[in-house]
Amino acid sequence: MTTASTSVDAPLDPIAIRADFPIFQRDFNGRRMAYLDSASTSLKPRRVIEAVTGYDSRYTANVHRGIYTTGEEATAAYEAARVKAARFINARDSHEIVFLRNATEGINLVAYSWGRRNIRAADTIVLTELEHHANLVPWQLLSQEKDADLEFVAIDEQGRLNQESFRVLLRTRPKLVAFTHVSNGLGTINPVREMVAMAHEAGALVLVDGAQAVPHGPVDVQELGCDFYVFSGHKVLGPTGSGVLWARRELLDAMPPFMGGGEMIREVHLRRTTFNDVPWKFEAGTPAISAAIGLGAALDYLSDIGMERLRAHERALTEYALEVLPREVPDIRILGPRSAEERAGIITFNLPDIHPHDVATLLDRDAVAIRAGHHCTQPLHERLGETATARASFNVYSGRDDIDRLAAGLGKVQAIFQRPGATETTREPAAAVTG
Ligand SMILES: Cc1ncc(COP(=O)(O)O)c(C=O)c1O
Repeated sequence: MTTASTSVDAPLDPIAIRADFPIFQRDFNGRRMAYLDSASTSLKPRRVIEAVTGYDSRYTANVHRGIYTTGEEATAAYEAARVKAARFINARDSHEIVFLRNATEGINLVAYSWGRRNIRAADTIVLTELEHHANLVPWQLLSQEKDADLEFVAIDEQGRLNQESFRVLLRTRPKLVAFTHVSNGLGTINPVREMVAMAHEAGALVLVDGAQAVPHGPVDVQELGCDFYVFSGHKVLGPTGSGVLWARRELLDAMPPFMGGGEMIREVHLRRTTFNDVPWKFEAGTPAISAAIGLGAALDYLSDIGMERLRAHERALTEYALEVLPREVPDIRILGPRSAEERAGIITFNLPDIHPHDVATLLDRDAVAIRAGHHCTQPLHERLGETATARASFNVYSGRDDIDRLAAGLGKVQAIFQRPGATETTREPAAAVTG
């Protein structure tokens, strides 16, 4: 690895790290891209790309089937990735790791399999106002089918979960509490351990959506104490099509299969089937083999860097952004917790009277890539009274130079909109808002 990982305590050097990411060699109108959309998907280091092409070019074969050299190599690499994923989030047992396409599929799996067996009419599921659509819609579908109730923990004016509201909802003795570890909308880091303890006390199981937490700092599912945890590989420097559901072994053992087909079976007869052990019981059909192997390489890469160092790097960058943007960009409105301590590397903001789509479109001319829209958190945006926001988000390759380019770009956007006639020509939002 060519990253600055010589000392455990040395700060990350994003400029050295960029050498590991081939996309930074691409020329965008004479400039390197300032990629500030890692919360949407992360860039991929060479090591991940080579792991994927290594499988495709040297040992392509299906897994758990071929009794020949490449078949055995593919199975070994796929199962080794599972062990790496288990280690990365400190799961007790790699059999607790189910490989799926993404975090969304993990939440749906729990809603269909655990939810359909355990949720009954008039049961309560507690969610929060911060949730991504992936942690709302599966529970809406389940509650409509089962005639169950959904309740929502309120947020305060800084986008932090109101713990008193949570305490009150726990008095309804919910069957399940499901909430995000880190908000993709505002960057808020939620007090997972404390909330899990409170939910267990009230008799509920807890699902944690870790899609925005695993990419940004150390996660230990045993320490958190939750029952289900999901994350997406493509946000952790891994390939698209890779994702993980972790659940306590006894829960997975008791849950019925989600999808039927090959791989998830032990014996099939014309009228009945017995099922494979976990986790394979939940991996019907040929899995995304190269994506899982690529995810294993991404987790190795991040482990070599050190997740504590990555968290420290992102906290410092967040502090820098919270200081520089209000100074350099008059009237910018930054949403979410005010302290970098309470948020991951996500800065959501708006400029008065300029639609975020216009902001993102104009920044793109300077090769600064940010996200604009509702970020798949429409209820959160409704709660905040915003139709859309702009969002800059970080990862290992993000540096102060990216934030400086963002600040300079936002200054240019404001100048364009202050020009006479700009109102008539450009104030219409660039496009419909999408997630
Ligand atoms: C908090 C959170 N949960 C879930 C998801 C869904 O991730 P995926 O689309 O990879 O399934 C995202 C994606 O942005 C997210 O930010």
